[in-house]
Amino acid sequence: MSGTFYVTTPIYYVNAEPHLGHAYTTIAADVMARYHRLCSRRTYFLTGTDEHGDKMVKCAEAAGRPVQELVDQNSSLFRELWPRLNISNDDFIRTTETRHRSVVKLVLSMVKNSGDIYFSEYEGLYCYGCERFYTERELVEGLCPDHRKKPEVIRESNYFFRMSKYQDWLIDHIHKHPDFIRPERYRNEVLSFLKEPLEDLCISRPKTRLTWGITLPFDENYVTYVWFDALINYISALGFPDGPLYRELWPAVQHVIAKDILKPHGIYWPCMLKSAGIEPYQHLNVHGYWGGSEGKMSKSLGNVVKPLDLVEIYGLDAFRYFLMREMVFGLDSEFSEEALVSRINSDLANDLGNLLARSLAMVQKYFQGELPNPGIEKEPDIELRKEVMALLDKYTGFMEELGFHKSLMAIWEVMGMMNRYIVTQEPWVLAKTDKDRLSTVLNYVMESLKVISVLLWPFMPETSRKIQTYLGLGKTGEELKLEDVRQWGAERPVRTAGQAPHLFPRIEKEPPEKPAEKKGPKPAASAPSGKPAVSIEDFRKLDIRIGTITGAEPIKGAKKLLKLSVDIGEERTVVAGVAQSYPPESLIGKQVVILANLQPATLMGVESQGMILAAEDKNGSRLLIPDSPVKPGNKVK
Ligand code: ME8
Ligand code: MG
Repeated sequence: MSGTFYVTTPIYYVNAEPHLGHAYTTIAADVMARYHRLCSRRTYFLTGTDEHGDKMVKCAEAAGRPVQELVDQNSSLFRELWPRLNISNDDFIRTTETRHRSVVKLVLSMVKNSGDIYFSEYEGLYCYGCERFYTERELVEGLCPDHRKKPEVIRESNYFFRMSKYQDWLIDHIHKHPDFIRPERYRNEVLSFLKEPLEDLCISRPKTRLTWGITLPFDENYVTYVWFDALINYISALGFPDGPLYRELWPAVQHVIAKDILKPHGIYWPCMLKSAGIEPYQHLNVHGYWGGSEGKMSKSLGNVVKPLDLVEIYGLDAFRYFLMREMVFGLDSEFSEEALVSRINSDLANDLGNLLARSLAMVQKYFQGELPNPGIEKEPDIELRKEVMALLDKYTGFMEELGFHKSLMAIWEVMGMMNRYIVTQEPWVLAKTDKDRLSTVLNYVMESLKVISVLLWPFMPETSRKIQTYLGLGKTGEELKLEDVRQWGAERPVRTAGQAPHLFPRIEKEPPEKPAEKKGPKPAASAPSGKPAVSIEDFRKLDIRIGTITGAEPIKGAKKLLKLSVDIGEERTVVAGVAQSYPPESLIGKQVVILANLQPATLMGVESQGMILAAEDKNGSRLLIPDSPVKPGNKVK
């Protein structure tokens, strides 16, 4: 890895307000930037807005306002949103700025000088939503795959970029640089697209049709196609061709985008750079799409989740945590408020919040807030220390490969271990029996919390800083680097703050009720319930088996549910509503009857892969249990 880290987000269109998708990409880029700062690496972070093209003109016309006024106002919505999401960008570029326009003209001249621009008449299928021509084979049932509208036939003379000339070079480049485009699924997507002959790119729009753009340096009557213009922001913001930032940072750049704009970034942009004699970018990082019960979120379809609404309700760090924990970078994710609340209650209020509060309270109670010195290290201490130190490497590995959710999971695993350490070491007993040992245990807990607070900083900067303040660390937030905590016991807390804080209060709002059961056919007046009779064939569709419970634990935030591990020849996780009838420990080893082919469902954040059969009784549920042991996995008929 090189010594500098330059990260970019797409520059967003200003034809509407920022939404959840924009927030996610920008937060992901922020997490990356902060992580690299945490590694003491020179870091530069760019975002901005894309303001030219038909889209803006149409939007301004619809609003009955001058285009400039509209883009100014909407660009500020983005610019003002980022500080509220604690985005640490170093610059914000707008394509209507002079510094950008002049570089676009320069790059166009360079590409022209390479002999890669020609003039020609073209008739093609144009989608106004995408601002590009489509080939027949790209359409889905004759419609634009994104906007589901029939593209219009447009015939005009235009300038073309000889992109086809770079096809072989690009294929070769992607093969030689396996992480040029990542994750792999998107690299493969680009490669598979490149199996077909690449068409040249129309890079101009006649001013008779559109004036809102950057005039071509070699023909007054045309403006530059918005994508050719927009992509150049990544270097214009650095002061291409001879600005110090450009010299320092290019081409060590990490572009972050979603899959919707893979083609311009994976194909147009490297070919443009190559033609202009500029080194291609180093990495293109592509993430998936957020969707939700509302359906696909995009401005053109008009149903958007407003990130700010949720931030105000649930708090910024919880929101940042949720987005980064929930989405596997590269794959699509569903967004729901219910899932957000469940993560806040379980991961933040319960795991992180309680661990911190509990630990600080003990240091306060037993040592009046003074951090105790460690005594002789024993086996469990060594184990904890090793886990925490191993976490540093795991975390770094995951962060470098954009496995944000994995980094967070690894941190939470260590917190689980810390909780077990506290439970097994029983500081409350040691307080009466062994003060030395108590010192060591609490010292190790605080030391581990310190490391965790540092690792959390990229994701939850405010929370991290708060924890560090509570721990009484001299350095906090941005001042504390990964290097500072690589050595166990270095950068010791000075004095902890006495009060146990409530970092994340529980949200006492029951998630919305599941939709009512679907109405079935009329009952055939047979069973006591009045439910219709079923055939033996219907019954045989059920895969019912004997299982042995191998694990049982409560589910945070759920009064009635337990999470069970059940051995049915393979291990299944099953959520069962028996918490009020059985203490979890009492279930281990019990044999039960399980419906094994029930469609999996997620209950309170846990995926349940089956259903345990139980009988209802006035005192709660009673499990059905075979009257003598049966081999796990055997069928029930
Ligand atoms: O395409 N899920 O701008 P844009 C995740 N101006 N991310 C999403 C998303 C979703 N549902 N919806 C949008 C443009 N995004 C051009 C870019 S760059 C030189 C020019 C995010 O406003 C994601 O980052 O349509 C996606 O790539 C970007 O917003 C598209 O933003
Ligand atoms: Mg878009």
